[in-house]
Amino acid sequence: TFTFSSLNDCDFPDLRKHNNCMASALTPAIYAKLRDKVTPNNWTLDQCIQTGVDNPGHPFIKTVGCVAGDEESYEVFADLFDPVIKDRHNGYDPRTMKHPTDLDSSKITNGVFDDKYVLSSRVRTGRSIRGLSLPPACSRAERREVERVAVMALAGLKGDLSGRYYSLGDMTEKEQQQLIDDHFLFDKPVSPLLTCAFMARDWPDARGIWHNNDKTFLIWVNEEDHTRVISMEKGGNMKRVFERFCRGLKQVESLIQERGWEFMWNEHLGYILTCPSNLGTGLRAGVHVRLPKLSKDPRFSKVLDNLRLQKRGTGGVDTAATGDTFDISNLDRLGKSEVELVQLVVDGVNYLIECEKKLEKGQDFKVPAPIVQFKK
Ligand SMILES: *[C@@H]1O[C@H](CO)[C@@H](O)[C@H](O)[C@H]1NC(C)=O
Repeated sequence: TFTFSSLNDCDFPDLRKHNNCMASALTPAIYAKLRDKVTPNNWTLDQCIQTGVDNPGHPFIKTVGCVAGDEESYEVFADLFDPVIKDRHNGYDPRTMKHPTDLDSSKITNGVFDDKYVLSSRVRTGRSIRGLSLPPACSRAERREVERVAVMALAGLKGDLSGRYYSLGDMTEKEQQQLIDDHFLFDKPVSPLLTCAFMARDWPDARGIWHNNDKTFLIWVNEEDHTRVISMEKGGNMKRVFERFCRGLKQVESLIQERGWEFMWNEHLGYILTCPSNLGTGLRAGVHVRLPKLSKDPRFSKVLDNLRLQKRGTGGVDTAATGDTFDISNLDRLGKSEVELVQLVVDGVNYLIECEKKLEKGQDFKVPAPIVQFKK
């Protein structure tokens, strides 16, 4: 006969073939301790880890393997999330360490790249609205409330930031084509990493895209996070892109606060987002940069690693790089401020361009010393 505890043991997922942070962290003891706990929204551990159970591996990246259903998931299931965060964020200990926030873009130096090499510059993050469940867990009503709060706040933006909202469900063919041509549109998630985290439910209900009239400040509503905030433009002026990012983000925050809402945030985890990999700043500052010579050098990967930069294909997170153009961005999200991360990208990309110029002249370059992520 089954007792309660033997049923509990029998529910432990088979993780023998898995390569993700959740599978490395989850032990039968942690599972037994957390299996029957729920957050105030009744979200469970099994719901957090389902995506990591169903997706043992990924061809290009070690995945995280779990998502939060709400802000409280990170507290109620801390015995799992803390080691996942430590693994994913290079040793950051969420129990003892504090995450800094700094959105003062005037501190950035040397933030304008040579346009001959840098084709476009972009900074993005996410923000979640406190009190509403995150996309894996939200009800239809909560998702519609996120949309309502976001769209109301965005309607208050003025000057170069003023713009309009396009609901995915309501837009015309012509609007849809324009958004596709501008590369602004996001599609219904088909990646099993997202569908197994329940993020495509009710598509396209309450999803949409807001952008300013200049098409340089963009907000996605109810994709992987409540909101994704993006500042971008063609060319190499990262300083200007970051300035608009900080200004827009601060204005959106005060507009939602005027209506009694706030972003999910705490001093150990920074801004709270759906995927533990995005905690802290949620920030990805990146450029599309042409590096035909450096990218063919066998030391290219080492240079990027030492500068704490990552490269992606120009088609997105799970594409391989093609040709001479690379999407280069910061590797870290948590434990360093927005200003520190953007400065790191600025210094790193300037270094890559210097290396490329040396190779053009037939000279050699030096692999830089590794940057230390956390000061001891
Ligand atoms: C959580 O589940 C309990 C027990 O089924 C129920 O009484 C409660 O209303 C639920 N809470 C929410 C927020 O749905």
